[in-house]
Amino acid sequence: MKEPYTIHLDEVDSTNRYALEFFHEFPDATLVTARTQNAGRGRLNRRWTSPPDENIYASFIMKNLPDNNWQYAAMASSLAVLELLRSEAPEINAWLKWPNDVLCAERKICGMLGEIKSGADNKPLGIVAGIGVNVNMPPETLAAIDQPATSMLAETGRNFDVKKLVNRLAIFINEYYSISFTCPRELYRRWREENLLIGRCIELETGNRRLTGTVIDLDDKGGMIFEHDGERTTFYSGDIRINKQSITLT
Ligand code: BTN
Repeated sequence: MKEPYTIHLDEVDSTNRYALEFFHEFPDATLVTARTQNAGRGRLNRRWTSPPDENIYASFIMKNLPDNNWQYAAMASSLAVLELLRSEAPEINAWLKWPNDVLCAERKICGMLGEIKSGADNKPLGIVAGIGVNVNMPPETLAAIDQPATSMLAETGRNFDVKKLVNRLAIFINEYYSISFTCPRELYRRWREENLLIGRCIELETGNRRLTGTVIDLDDKGGMIFEHDGERTTFYSGDIRINKQSITLT
């Protein structure tokens, strides 16, 4: 396994943008983190709320994914965050929601944004996996976010040392990145196992469509096999809407 190599910034627009700009300057498996972002990027062109010193804002540079299997970036990142939460706050019951979210019950605690780095000839050179984990964000800030959100503080009533968490995350993400080379089937197996929506009825937003149906399975390319109106389709992006019923465990 590679030694974690981490760059800590005070303030940046977005750690993803920075990691993409300086992609060539850093070695493979570098984790770029910041105390705050003034233009944090979320999926689907949303903003990511990034107040100073409250949360983890990190971007992991992956230059060597096997055969450009970008799905391993999301699998490795989300499993690393789950491991971080379980080791630092075992009382938090977190799960994975396809494609990239980590949730506690129906509230999001972590989001991920994968962005591909391309060369001059448009050839993909690697991927930057952006990870935002809500750590010490208080209820009043969470309430201002436009979707149900939570933080480690809100879930446990405890404050956490963000720097320590970042260092632990660097270790875990390096471990899962290694597994994507040594045992990709195992990475996929673990990721699939943590996704609790398989077999559940959900609403999927994709492009400008909103479809109601059932999650049949997740494949090893990171796709979601979805059944709606008697048809099965595999989606590689989209937004799943859930309600309390979708996640009630039997
Ligand atoms: C999502 O919308 O769920 C994805 C959020 C990703 C946020 C992280 S914070 C660190 C990195 N830098 C960014 O600008 N975005 C990602």
